[in-house]
Amino acid sequence: QNNVAVGLLGVGVVGSGVINLIEKHQEKLAHQLGCGVYVKSALVRNPDKARDIGADMNGTQLTADPDAVLGDPEIDVVVEVMGGIEEAREAILKAFAAKKHVVTANKDLVALHGGELHEAAERNKCDLYYEASVAGGIPILRGITDGFASDHIEQLMGIVNGTTNYIMTKMSQEGLSYEAALKQAQERGFAEADPASDVEGLDAARKMAILGRLAFSTYINLEDVEVTGIKDVDPKDLEYGDSLGLTMKLIGFADFDGTQVEINVQPALISKDHPLAGVKNEYNAVYVYGEAVGEAMFYGAGAGSMPTAAAVMSDVVAVIKNMHRGVTGSQFVEPRFEKQLKEPEQ
Ligand code: NDP
Ligand code: HSE
Repeated sequence: QNNVAVGLLGVGVVGSGVINLIEKHQEKLAHQLGCGVYVKSALVRNPDKARDIGADMNGTQLTADPDAVLGDPEIDVVVEVMGGIEEAREAILKAFAAKKHVVTANKDLVALHGGELHEAAERNKCDLYYEASVAGGIPILRGITDGFASDHIEQLMGIVNGTTNYIMTKMSQEGLSYEAALKQAQERGFAEADPASDVEGLDAARKMAILGRLAFSTYINLEDVEVTGIKDVDPKDLEYGDSLGLTMKLIGFADFDGTQVEINVQPALISKDHPLAGVKNEYNAVYVYGEAVGEAMFYGAGAGSMPTAAAVMSDVVAVIKNMHRGVTGSQFVEPRFEKQLKEPEQ
């Protein structure tokens, strides 16, 4: 098989991880795929900026011109890790129009425009995968699609935002103030550029919308998710919960009975015996209840350069395997169910 050229859109935290990971594990990739994989070129805002990548960028050409990536006929797979919504959306649609497969880590975009992107992928007979968009390095989308392929998922509960989990852990266990804990989360690189979307629960809501769609095979829009963030959590609530054997977490909850969906994100006091209670700091976890499997829990790093790059690369490998078999694929399956939103209890 010929070596596969990847084009990157973005060489920040995740994109640099992708370049480093390909370099580190190229032998394993070649063994699995029967061909090499390399990042031919990468779009950035500033090609002159110093980056945390080996000598000569491991052979990757940096460019500020999107067409140098999207218009290159040698590039078969485009990996979008630039973030934002409108420019990323346009670039992905352009990639599909040029018959390139797309992998993205962009939960904001997939939650808002997933339907349009899937439609464009199908129309152009291209792949679209987005494993890294939910819970970083945890293979949760493959878990709930492939892993539960013959099961019926009844419920999901997740800690899917690392920043808020970090803040609440530090406030309850180390007595840090909200502001000090948020500053640490920003310094450690897992808070969003505008941390309002973390602390107001929007980032978690986007991830729950993606999870809910795939788990329940029904259209769930971002507006369907009721959201309360952690900004108004009083440290006294954490102390009070602690005295009762409870711990507070920002929980994403989704339940589907075949007709009605309940989906929300809110700070909740859960028993310290619950499997989600032990998930600390920036870690993520998703608890899944399947009719056949019963309880299952996925736990791990929900953000960060290498964990997220590993999820991105799992998609790139899936795309290349599809290319070799002459098929196209996606994590998305056309929904089977109409849904109604469950009325919140008074
Ligand atoms: P960064 O801000 O670290 O990197 C963004 C990269 O994209 C930079 O290289 C930047 O160029 C480039 N870029 C951004 N906008 C443009 C543009 N308009 N034109 C050209 N280049 C552009 O982001 P992250 O790597 O942290 O995140 C990337 C995506 O992955 C986001 O969608 C994020 O939500 C998602 N994600 C991130 C995780 C994480 O742990 N960081 C975890 C899971 C998902 P330059 O370097 O020159 O500024
Ligand atoms: N800001 C996000 C978080 C990054 O804290 O979980 C990973 O999506």
